[in-house]
Amino acid sequence: MSYFPQRRPRRLRQNPAMRDLVAETQLSPRDLILPMFVADGIDQPKEISSMPGVYQHTEESLIQAIREAQEAGVRCVDLFGVPREEDKDAQGSPAWDPKGVLNRALTRVRKEFGNDILIMADTCLDEFTDHGHCGVLDSQGRVDNDATLELYVAMSIAQARAGAHIVSPSGMMDGQIGAIREGLDAAGFEDVAIMAYSAKYASAFFGPFREAVGSSLEGDRRTYQQDPANYRESMLEVDLDIEEGADFVMVKPALPYLDVLAGTAERSPVPVAAYQVSGEYAMIKAAGANGWVDEQAVMMESLISIKRAGADQIFTYFATEAARILNQQV
Ligand code: PBG
Repeated sequence: MSYFPQRRPRRLRQNPAMRDLVAETQLSPRDLILPMFVADGIDQPKEISSMPGVYQHTEESLIQAIREAQEAGVRCVDLFGVPREEDKDAQGSPAWDPKGVLNRALTRVRKEFGNDILIMADTCLDEFTDHGHCGVLDSQGRVDNDATLELYVAMSIAQARAGAHIVSPSGMMDGQIGAIREGLDAAGFEDVAIMAYSAKYASAFFGPFREAVGSSLEGDRRTYQQDPANYRESMLEVDLDIEEGADFVMVKPALPYLDVLAGTAERSPVPVAAYQVSGEYAMIKAAGANGWVDEQAVMMESLISIKRAGADQIFTYFATEAARILNQQV
């Protein structure tokens, strides 16, 4: 039997006020986390060609860009360091050196913003190793899980000491959350939170990021990042990270993995983040620049979709721009 014409879902779509009244998902500037790059040995910010509008920053331009994000209502930034080529080594030692580019920037940003901006640090070795892998290699060239954990702990402590509120291990080593939690606590940093990259896939959508950080990687990360074919495995990763003490869990990339995000949101007792990655950004920018899609509309639609699927926080290179648009809407 049909309920038409009594049941007319279009009634609730008849004008903007009605649509706003019944909108199930709201996006706010405070949901957004802005990933940023700070590079050593440059004296001018340098635009990343495959990510128009995104820069490798100097310390000065970084501060300026954070201020702009803050004015738009963004409350959290995620910093990635780009060392000079000659400072990279097999272990990635600038990662835990207090004078390494990322730790210097963290110190500076914390001094400048205090607790007004939450400062997250990327906790991974790939930017700092000369082979470009997220961990150290054993004698046969394989990524050595347990030897890498010790370095992640040293890196986390250095980042906490430099002023990071949140560390974010993104290397997909087994046991990384537990090791870092223990190391931070033992060093007196019980209040530093851990954003766990729990379900991180070996994704071609990371392409532009490799340019962004001047990655030295040859080959791929398939022995540690997940196979895009797998869903169940992500649920295991999420459960393990929560058991090990993750304060947040994250799914990455975002749009191609909304099912994983929704599943994670359903089971997680801690906040769930999603990372709209470099390739997702680049595709929207490129299609927009060609006039093939309405760039702003697609940007906002992609973000609301990620939120609807279950993200409490969204990492996006669009954070400042999207926040400005959201401010005009209210
Ligand atoms: C690794 C890391 C990567 C990204 C964030 N952290 C790259 C990778 O795993 O190869 C990708 C971010 C993006 O594509 O925007 N430290």
